[in-house]
Amino acid sequence: MINPLNKITIAIDGFSSTGKSTVAKQLAQKLGYIYVDSGAMYRAITFFALQNKLIDETHFERETLIRLLPTIHLRFKFNKKLGFAEMFLNDQNVETEIRSMHISAFVSEIATVEEVRAYLVDIQRAMGKNKGVVMDGRDIGSVVFPDAELKLFLMADAKVRAERRLLELEQKGIQTDFESIYENVVERDRIDSTRLISPLTKVADAVELDVTHIDKTQQFNIIYKMALDKIKELN
Ligand code: DC
Repeated sequence: MINPLNKITIAIDGFSSTGKSTVAKQLAQKLGYIYVDSGAMYRAITFFALQNKLIDETHFERETLIRLLPTIHLRFKFNKKLGFAEMFLNDQNVETEIRSMHISAFVSEIATVEEVRAYLVDIQRAMGKNKGVVMDGRDIGSVVFPDAELKLFLMADAKVRAERRLLELEQKGIQTDFESIYENVVERDRIDSTRLISPLTKVADAVELDVTHIDKTQQFNIIYKMALDKIKELN
């Protein structure tokens, strides 16, 4: 365990299905830090919008969603048995629901809304105010924690990412096919990278890591070493 005095902020951004959350979770566990999956928060807002019929393939009641934002309470609750924090939306456990392909199909659209982003960024900053946090997402190093001591930007070939995602969903018992996942991965890359507010982008002080040809263990080892080096360097 690392001396708590040395706590830093670690921002892990990058394209979808590059293993960000897996590595962030492991890193937080190893360092005794808090892990925050910011994507889960955007997914939970998307779940709320779908549940309240504010969005579908043909319409999006943006203004209504913005008006209802203060009624949306998000909370991560650690599940000891599972070993990770589950997402609760207004006291309902939505951890399984928010991982579905249906949510993935709408989440990037929801994430373009400036007010949604501002609402979540405030919560994310509060979660990281005492440092000792590993947060993964799309705008963590650029917007949420521009002063993070360690910033990573992960990328990988889209086909490899879709294959990994397919395997992950199959392991969770979610039925889908490669083509749908590949299309979703490419479409989310496009929307996330081109939106006007806080687009996915590698900031100058982020370390870029292409994980196309490395497995999860190698990925973890590389990033863990970077974190330890940074912690040592700052003390
Ligand atoms: O990490 P994820 O795939 O669960 O994220 C789901 C979507 O949420 C992603 O396609 C874009 C959006 N997102 C975002 O815009 N900013 C973040 N910090 C995290 C996620």
